[in-house]
Amino acid sequence: MKDVQRIAIVDPSDATREPLRNLLLGIESVWLEAECSRYEFFIDVAKQSSPDVVVVALDSDHAKALQLIQQLTIELPGMPVLAVSGRGDGQSILQALRAGAKEFLTAPVVLEELLTAMQRLRVSRVSADGTVVQSNGAVRSESLVVSVIGARGGVGSTGVAINLGCNLAQDPAHNVALIDLDLALGDADVALDLIPDYTLADVALNIDRLDMTFLRRSLCKHACGLSVLPHPVQMEDIALIHEDHLGRVIGLLRASYSHLIFDLSKRFTPTDLTAMRMSDAVLLVAQLDLTSLRNVVRMLHTFGQEEGLAEKIKVVMNRVGSDEGEISLKKAEETIGQPIYWQVPNDFKAMLGARNAGEPLLMHAPRSKAQLSLVGLANALCGKASHETVKRERRSFFSFR
Ligand SMILES: Nc1ncnc2c1ncn2[C@@H]1O[C@H](COP(=O)(O)OP(=O)(O)O)[C@@H](O)[C@H]1O
Ligand SMILES: [Mg+2]
Repeated sequence: MKDVQRIAIVDPSDATREPLRNLLLGIESVWLEAECSRYEFFIDVAKQSSPDVVVVALDSDHAKALQLIQQLTIELPGMPVLAVSGRGDGQSILQALRAGAKEFLTAPVVLEELLTAMQRLRVSRVSADGTVVQSNGAVRSESLVVSVIGARGGVGSTGVAINLGCNLAQDPAHNVALIDLDLALGDADVALDLIPDYTLADVALNIDRLDMTFLRRSLCKHACGLSVLPHPVQMEDIALIHEDHLGRVIGLLRASYSHLIFDLSKRFTPTDLTAMRMSDAVLLVAQLDLTSLRNVVRMLHTFGQEEGLAEKIKVVMNRVGSDEGEISLKKAEETIGQPIYWQVPNDFKAMLGARNAGEPLLMHAPRSKAQLSLVGLANALCGKASHETVKRERRSFFSFR
């Protein structure tokens, strides 16, 4: 998935800064990290906001602007500068490039030229272990986006989503957000006993002027470290949330969170589909009963019709061992035609107790069977457990039967 480029601009003139700002805000893959109207303050702004690219408009004061570019190049050598000026003559271009600018665009800036320049400046290198060396020299991980969807009501998808999120958030290197996309009946906030100030409805209402500060403030942080963006409180606000909003929000959230978890509805709404399309993995939570398995088969068939979606589906079998008469794992795998990726044992006491206490398992029942399995799931998704561990886990459950 395409990474967001974080940009900071400096232009003392409102008349030229505004159109440039609007142009940048219209680009999906761009996050406007900071805006500054004084050349002399910009070096501090750039140091604090650490963007991927800085845009310096020259025309308010060429001498000051060129001096700033020189200073930026010396003090922040990995941060490329894009210079903008209405004077596109050879002399002006040469001066900007000599000062250290990597790209030069003539004002008024044309979208196509801006996109091409941004593309050239996109020097992020993704290494084999998934870390990204950004153009400013900082190293961060590619974010992992996971959707959780259930094969029927009450199958345990919210339980998997919130506990997965909380478990992932235990690694200090992670910054994890859960977005409740069960827009009508979601209960991630209740399950974590959170009283949010903002919901997805506020984000949707402010989509045109969404910035990093607003988006971060809209998420509610749980004591365990997980950030949550709940579904709208008022049912009538659901209509405010369009799938194209979600696309933008996901793109932006990826710039500040290492892991995004979506708790989806079971209605295959356009927002559910957008989330699944933008995910790296889709956990399809089912149980060993006929309705679940039949729906898994139907869902896999539907997903199979869209390129790239079926390969992301990982079936998570929940409440394994709950019933003497349940369908066997072997039979389930034969029926759905693909291996079960993970199993979560039946653990009524821990799961229901945690839910009623409004706490994640790691706080309510840290040593419960369900929690140990969900820690394993978090590790497996991060590539911390080998495939062999997954296989062994599966075999150990077979041996129960
Ligand atoms: N592994 C499990 N063992 C026992 N009970 C579970 C398990 N997973 C979920 N539950 C229970 O099932 C109910 C529904 O779970 P929930 O996560 O809300 O499902 P969904 O989001 O799919 O509707 C909850 O009461 C929960 O405590
Ligand atoms: Mg749910």
